[in-house]
Amino acid sequence: MNIKNSVKVASENSKYFKSLIFKDTISSTQTIAKEELKNYKDEFLVAALTQTDGVGRFKRNWESPNDKGFYGSFVFRPNVSREKLIEFNLFIALAITKTIESFIDYDIKIKWPNDIYIEGKKVCGFLTEMIKEKEQLSIICGIGINLFNERSEVEKKESIERFANDTFNVKDFVNDLIHNIEKYYELFLSKDFKSIRNEYISYSVVLGNRIKITTPSEQFYAKAIDIDDNGILVVINDDGYIKKVISADIEE
Ligand code: BTN
Repeated sequence: MNIKNSVKVASENSKYFKSLIFKDTISSTQTIAKEELKNYKDEFLVAALTQTDGVGRFKRNWESPNDKGFYGSFVFRPNVSREKLIEFNLFIALAITKTIESFIDYDIKIKWPNDIYIEGKKVCGFLTEMIKEKEQLSIICGIGINLFNERSEVEKKESIERFANDTFNVKDFVNDLIHNIEKYYELFLSKDFKSIRNEYISYSVVLGNRIKITTPSEQFYAKAIDIDDNGILVVINDDGYIKKVISADIEE
């Protein structure tokens, strides 16, 4: 089954994402999801075969070759506190990791907070935006997964297909992806990050390493020493001070 039909079938079988906007070509699923917020009361999914203006974190471009990847923005409507929102990305990272893991025989790594790597190559990135209008909170989580991309040394990107075992097929992959996102979303609603912390840390690639941290306000080098009970990265900088980082771009 092709990507388009796989997304359609998975959406029909899903609990939260039966409302689907699917386009062959779209500017960015993330942009359209934000525009569509007013037209939906509950959860919905915007997905496409290609994006002409795909966006990554820190306003980077997200290459979206036609029919080669999963490009989708999931809109959630939770009723949770501002503090709790910090944990959202960690649950979603685990949902994606678990999905990919079942189709490959390689080690899979989460580069806190939003990147998934296999063998040092990025196979998935996601970004999360929160919008509160009146009393309605929307979380818009845009996920890009390279399913069939060509190898790209420059971008350090790679596709799932390249690492996949015999069980890999798009229909099951997309179905499991949406299922796991729903499962980990419900865990996010009902449990603390603490309950998945050990599992999350078992996939973490940053801990113990000296990393370059870029936030909107600063850039510095530090050694990553922990991901705490709230999902916050704890680092020790070159002057020996411990700092806590809620979200950042991480380079090794
Ligand atoms: C990153 O690694 O910088 C995050 C990339 C997120 C890409 C996805 S693809 C679907 C959704 N639509 C977009 O324009 N971006 C996200």
